[in-house]
Amino acid sequence: MSYLIIDTDIGVDDAYAVKLAVLSGELLGVTTTYGNASVVQTTKNAKLALKTWQKNFKVYRGASRPLVIKPPVNDGHIHGIDGLGACYENNESPDADDAIHFIVECARKYKGEVTLLTIGPLTNLALALNIEPNLPNLLKGVISMGGAFGRDGHTGNMTHFAEFNIFADPHAAEEVCSAPFNLTLIPLDITHQVLIDEKDIASYHDEFLSNISKFYLDFSEKYEKFRGMCVHDALTAVYYKHPEFFEVTKSPIAVSTEGITFGQTHRIISSYASIPFDIFKDRPVHNIILNGDVKAIKEYMCQEMNKEN
Ligand code: BDR
Ligand code: CA
Repeated sequence: MSYLIIDTDIGVDDAYAVKLAVLSGELLGVTTTYGNASVVQTTKNAKLALKTWQKNFKVYRGASRPLVIKPPVNDGHIHGIDGLGACYENNESPDADDAIHFIVECARKYKGEVTLLTIGPLTNLALALNIEPNLPNLLKGVISMGGAFGRDGHTGNMTHFAEFNIFADPHAAEEVCSAPFNLTLIPLDITHQVLIDEKDIASYHDEFLSNISKFYLDFSEKYEKFRGMCVHDALTAVYYKHPEFFEVTKSPIAVSTEGITFGQTHRIISSYASIPFDIFKDRPVHNIILNGDVKAIKEYMCQEMNKEN
C-alpha cells in the first residue's frame, strides 16, 4: 500500500497541494507548521480548507518555531495576513494532536509505505528524525518543496540565494539533507516554470481555491505585471503520482546555515575529479528536480481538480 502525509504551513499555493493530496485517495492526515502564518493560524487554515471541501481528514499541529533561529515575520504581502488571502472568516479551533508523533507513528505502523510531502519549513521532519533516528528507513520517501539551484537565474525568493522554506529553518533543512532519506527536492528552478493564471484556476471549479487566490493574483499583477501565480507546493503532489513528468538530477545537498548564503541549497556542480575539501563527502545522494514537462504537469493538475466535478 501507499500512504501520504502532507506537512504544510498552509498558504495559497499549499492549498492546491493539499487538495491534490486529498484527491490522491492515499492521505493519512495533514500536519501543520509555522511559515506562511503562525502554526496556530495554519492549523485553523488546514481545518477550514478540509471543512470547505467536506473532507474528514485529521489535522495535527506541529512546530511553532524553527530549531535555532527566530520565526519568520509574516507581513502577509503575498498570501494575505492569515495565509489564505484574507478572504474567509476562520472560526476553526487551532487545537490538534501532535504532528511530530503522528509522523513517527505512521512511519512505524506502515513501514516503507508512507511518503511525506513537506511544503513548508522542514522543522517537523527534523524533530521527528530526532525522536526516531531510523525514520529515513521507515518512510518510503520525502518529497519537499524548497531551495533553489540557480537554473536560469532561479536563485532565491527571500535573499539572492535562499528560498523561503529553507531560509525559514536552514538548520532543520541541513539535518534533513544530511540524513539518508529517499528525498526529492522540488526547488524554485522548476516551480517558477509552472505558472497558472485565472483561466487555469477557473478550470479547477473550486470556489475555495479561486477565492483564496485573488490576493496572490493581485500581488503578482502589481509586482510582476502578470495576473498569475506559481503553485510551488502543488508540484510535490504531482511528483508523488507522476515522477515521470520530471527530470531528476542526483546529488548530495548541503544547506548554508551562516553568512551571506544563509539558507542557500547547494549541490555538486564542480567537475574536478579531486576536491581537497569536499563538503559533500559522505553525504547521502538525493533527487533534485530542475526541469520537467510543464504541459503534462498542468494538464494533470486540471484533470485531478476536476475529479469530483
Ligand atoms: C514556498 O514559500 C511559501 O511561501 C510557499 O507556500 C512555498 O511553500 C515557495 O518559496
Ligand atoms: Ca508552503
